[in-house]
Amino acid sequence: MDFWGKTIWITGASSGIGKAVAIELSSNNVTLILSGRKEEALKDTEKLCIKNGCQTVILPFDLGNEESIEEAAQFIKENNIKIDALYQFGGISQRSFVAETPISVDRKIFEVNYFGTIALTKKVLPQMIKNGGGQIAVTSSIVGKFGFPYRSSYSASKQALHGFFESLRAENAKNNIAVSVIIPGRIKTNISVNAINKDGKTHAQMDAGQDKGMSAEKCAKVICKKLKKEKKEILVGGSEVIMVHIRRFLPRLYYYMASRVKPL
Ligand SMILES: NC(=O)c1ccc[n+]([C@@H]2O[C@H](COP(=O)([O-])OP(=O)(O)OC[C@H]3O[C@@H](n4cnc5c(N)ncnc54)[C@H](OP(=O)(O)O)[C@@H]3O)[C@@H](O)[C@H]2O)c1
Repeated sequence: MDFWGKTIWITGASSGIGKAVAIELSSNNVTLILSGRKEEALKDTEKLCIKNGCQTVILPFDLGNEESIEEAAQFIKENNIKIDALYQFGGISQRSFVAETPISVDRKIFEVNYFGTIALTKKVLPQMIKNGGGQIAVTSSIVGKFGFPYRSSYSASKQALHGFFESLRAENAKNNIAVSVIIPGRIKTNISVNAINKDGKTHAQMDAGQDKGMSAEKCAKVICKKLKKEKKEILVGGSEVIMVHIRRFLPRLYYYMASRVKPL
């Protein structure tokens, strides 16, 4: 994917990794569609992007609300915007034990991370196919590759994305659709602050582990470099990403570690 002159729709652009990716891409003469729920925060991202000479459209919507997704897709259609790439970073994390978490909280996490993401993808994909191809990226997590305490439905929602997007890739190779699954480790963003707890309220804390994570800016540079190469999986983070390899090649060590790990 040569970014130059392309139209790229970015979800999660109001904060963290999505915001940093928007800024990183903004010097490529791109048109960026910036989405998230918080319009004011999107305007902040827009200001930083415009400085680098790109075009922007702010399109706030809620991934947890089907009507809101439909309205956003309708806006794109009515304005004849041709999407070359859809990069999805919108998502929420979790901080609660299985035994204490009501099913409504599990559903809320899936609604945003899984159903919202695939609903948006389904709105964009047919048009992309008609236009002769494009690129779709979705953000999983290292816990999309293994289970982790305090993250049950978050981990499950991210693992579900792998199944969905691998299938989409296999179906659409013939349609020139490139699919990348981004797999971050610990990145220093507000993800733990915005994570939801057993009461469905925000965790409202910067966890110690999160605070020591890779910066969003460095993470965005790695992601953009690999999106350009259309890598199928983009693993990014610090030493914690080794857990993906431990889970795959040394499962007994993973089982031992996972039950003893400090979850915050
Ligand atoms: N940071 C990490 O260590 C880490 C690790 C693995 C995976 N990830 C994944 O990376 C992605 C970006 O997270 P981040 O670290 O940048 O965290 P963040 O700073 O909390 O950003 C999350 C983004 O998702 C958007 N979002 C949340 N709920 C939404 C909803 N209902 N509708 C629309 N947008 C919504 C937020 O925008 P609004 O608040 O404006 O809606 C925000 O822009 C997420 O998918 C996360 O799961 C992060």
